[in-house]
Amino acid sequence: MNQRENFGSRAAVIMAMAGSAIGLGNIWRFPYILGEYGGAAFILLYIAASLLVALPIFFAESVIGRRSRSNAYGALQKLAPGTRWRWAGILTILSPLLILSYYSVVGGWSVQYLFKSLSFDFTSAAPEAVSGFFSSFISSTWQPILSHTVFIALVAGIVLGGVKKGIEKFSNIAMPVLFVLILVLIVYSLTLPGSSKGVSYLLKPDFSKLNADAFAAALGQAFFSLSLGVGTILTYSSYVKKEENLIVSGIGTAASDLVFAIMAAFAVIPAVFAAGIEPGAGPGLVFETLPFIFNKMAGAAPVVSSIISIVFFVAILAAALTSAISMLEVGVAFLTEEKGFKRVPATLLLAFFTWLVGILCSLSFGPMSGVKILGDTFFDFLDHLCSNWLMPAGGLVFTLFVGWKMSKASVRDELTNGGRCNAVSYKFFYYLIRFVAPVGIVAVSLTNLLL
Ligand code: PHE
Repeated sequence: MNQRENFGSRAAVIMAMAGSAIGLGNIWRFPYILGEYGGAAFILLYIAASLLVALPIFFAESVIGRRSRSNAYGALQKLAPGTRWRWAGILTILSPLLILSYYSVVGGWSVQYLFKSLSFDFTSAAPEAVSGFFSSFISSTWQPILSHTVFIALVAGIVLGGVKKGIEKFSNIAMPVLFVLILVLIVYSLTLPGSSKGVSYLLKPDFSKLNADAFAAALGQAFFSLSLGVGTILTYSSYVKKEENLIVSGIGTAASDLVFAIMAAFAVIPAVFAAGIEPGAGPGLVFETLPFIFNKMAGAAPVVSSIISIVFFVAILAAALTSAISMLEVGVAFLTEEKGFKRVPATLLLAFFTWLVGILCSLSFGPMSGVKILGDTFFDFLDHLCSNWLMPAGGLVFTLFVGWKMSKASVRDELTNGGRCNAVSYKFFYYLIRFVAPVGIVAVSLTNLLL
């Protein structure tokens, strides 16, 4: 048997998990989803979904991962041999690959924007030219596909070449840098004329804007942002040492993810209002707004603005890559550990599959924008399918497994390290895992289905 590696320290555990959690979900997805569902009221829903449903599922995945010390597919089989629970493993292989196929398209947009920053396009062009850039880029056929190809090649290259450690080290530097840059952008955004409307949009809840979809969207965003329901957190937890406090590392990861998302909203949304962009403009929101910010900044300090935009996109790319490799790795681990594949063909096969599906996603902003599935473009359809359905389904299986199938003694053993810590908080979280999280998922999904 292979000797399984362990994360060395608590900081390493939180960094690795936060590396998977913090990504385009925070910077790209959160601002536009909250823009589609009305701002402040949606943020409150999102915080509730994160604490009451997502966090307990995070713990459920951690318990399964550390208890089984196994990959996502084999874990339930190991803990409940011969039962049907193992079928849930299929979700953990399919969902991350589908997510990666459209994630990579957005990763590609970041690659393209990095090149634009490097050639000073945002800072030297006229403001009108900058604001029209996204729509012409995205509706073209080849350029976005090329960028998507570069991104998926980077992801495959990292998973293949074993430079994962290097990338993770790099990302450990890039994340704090991104954090500081977002702070700078917040301050700058808030000084733009017209931005105060954006601030009240984020702070004054208007519950009349929440429709039935908003609940599913908030839950879906919480799953997406914390990488839940697809086996990523489960897999990472299988490398966590016995002595490590799962509740503390879970709260650390979830808190940093939440703070990052809210900061991104405060950097982007005030500028959205200042630029006169519609907050419900959809997946392109951040990519339409950032060039506007950098272009405005350039008026005051062109060199500083160019440097900030370059560093910003490098950091976003690092954040996106650490999330994307965690998606591809789940499938690669499955093919190599369970199906006897060698690492190279497994990686190439899965990367090829996600590349093909990603091309359809990319085209759905241009030549295929008229092709709709259940009223959505292909890109939106896949995103809704994964975040609003597949991820919650995976999460439901994990919480039911931990709350109802595993013995209470073993769950307590994992969450309290054999009774040495968290004696009080464990009871609270066990209650959330057993009742609140599954009821929350089912209630939200039913509402979404029926209304
Ligand atoms: N949480 C990542 C992000 O916010 C996306 C992700 C989803 C990563 C699922 C892994 C698994 O960008």
